[in-house]
Amino acid sequence: MTATVRPDYSLTGEAKQRAIDAGLANAEWFQPAIDPARLRELQTRTNARASFDVVLWIALLVGSGVWAYLSVWSWWSIPAFLVYGALYGGAADPRWHEMGHGTAFRTRWLNDAIYPIASAMLFRGPTVWRWSHYRHHTDTIIVGRDAEISFQRPPNVGKTLLFFTGKGTFPMFARLVRHAFGRIDPDAAEFIPASEHRKVVWESRIIVAVVAGAAVWSLVAWTPLPILFIGGPTVYGQWLMVFFGITQHAGLRENVLDHRYSTRTVYMNPVFRFLYLNMNYHVEHHIFPSVPYPALPKLHDEIKSQLAPPLPNTVTAYRQIFTTLARQQRDPSYELEVAVPDVPSASRHRIDVGETNWVKGSDGTVDLGAADAMSVGELRRVDVGDQTYVLCRLSPDEFALGDGICTHAKVHLADGALVDGQIECPKHNGRFDARTGEAVRKPVKEAICMYPVRRVGGRLVSDLTPSRPQQSAGSV
Ligand code: FES
Repeated sequence: MTATVRPDYSLTGEAKQRAIDAGLANAEWFQPAIDPARLRELQTRTNARASFDVVLWIALLVGSGVWAYLSVWSWWSIPAFLVYGALYGGAADPRWHEMGHGTAFRTRWLNDAIYPIASAMLFRGPTVWRWSHYRHHTDTIIVGRDAEISFQRPPNVGKTLLFFTGKGTFPMFARLVRHAFGRIDPDAAEFIPASEHRKVVWESRIIVAVVAGAAVWSLVAWTPLPILFIGGPTVYGQWLMVFFGITQHAGLRENVLDHRYSTRTVYMNPVFRFLYLNMNYHVEHHIFPSVPYPALPKLHDEIKSQLAPPLPNTVTAYRQIFTTLARQQRDPSYELEVAVPDVPSASRHRIDVGETNWVKGSDGTVDLGAADAMSVGELRRVDVGDQTYVLCRLSPDEFALGDGICTHAKVHLADGALVDGQIECPKHNGRFDARTGEAVRKPVKEAICMYPVRRVGGRLVSDLTPSRPQQSAGSV
């Protein structure tokens, strides 16, 4: 009997080059067709829903913590700590995720304030996991590129079940300790810019110091309570994160540029959807990360005819996952049949954008179309020759024109959103100032050029002369 050769899931081995050679790295993905005006509506952010969800989460966390404290040393403390741990080490995960994308709150600092706290609650260095998640969205389940492939082949059902015990938190804490000592893992160094390594070290030191402080407090006071409340819940509460997280990609296809084959959408009840912040609509989230979590059910309704049928409930999802993992344990090449509708990708031909290839007139200007054909807040792709631009309507009287491709990767900015005067990239939610072109939110670090745009009669025209200097790299 020949032994199964385990694929190399590291980001620095042969699989990395294989993925690049096969055109799987930073590639163009399947996109379903959607009316841009409807997509714009769905991309709208508010503070109200995220505020409610965050306040409720904190209230439940504090309430269960008080219950656990008051009932300590009685049998009631078992359910109390179970709930507290699940809210701490499990429900923090989708909060970390949404704040990291910057889409939960409309107000940017609210996302940025909660993100590092939720990261620490999960033993995740905020900067490491920000960059790792950018990569996960660029190269979802591409072996050698994606740093977040949790269920690797060949799977082992027994070891998979052990994840529910919190065992996955120990290597994560060990990585924090290594980073705290300045030893950045080779995989992490592959996707984190060198300019951020120092930040990685200091963030790791702070998280390790807090957890170590709780442990020392427990030892000195000779009571498990400090570590049961701080740091410990990451371990004993991780089961909830695994419970939801396993539904995302486990057992599905690797190395395919279509999220409908590598990612799963599962209908869940309202309690689960509160805890998981609608991430059960995971295919939709991967295809349109600029849509905030409250709008994912509506996005699902818009595009579901172009996706594989969602799984009707969590029990069905678990049955599918574990039967698939068991088969793949025997035969790692086994692929689950997914009934994906045969529809063309709309990624380059979204409705009414990018279809018109304008040419320069004899006076050297380009007619970009009727001003009133655009609504306020709209982004439109404009192609001139082999160049592509993004045209924005910032207000009834203000238009802006910039380079159409994100400086972080090959993505059309016109597929993104206009948020508070900033163009948000559809792929990783990086942002550019729509008036100056400056990069104002990671992962973008390099500005886009802007071009003057004037209104002549009812038309918009530009001579396409770059009007802003490029921002220097690394200034975000
Ligand atoms: S492609 Fe990454 S932020 Fe634009």
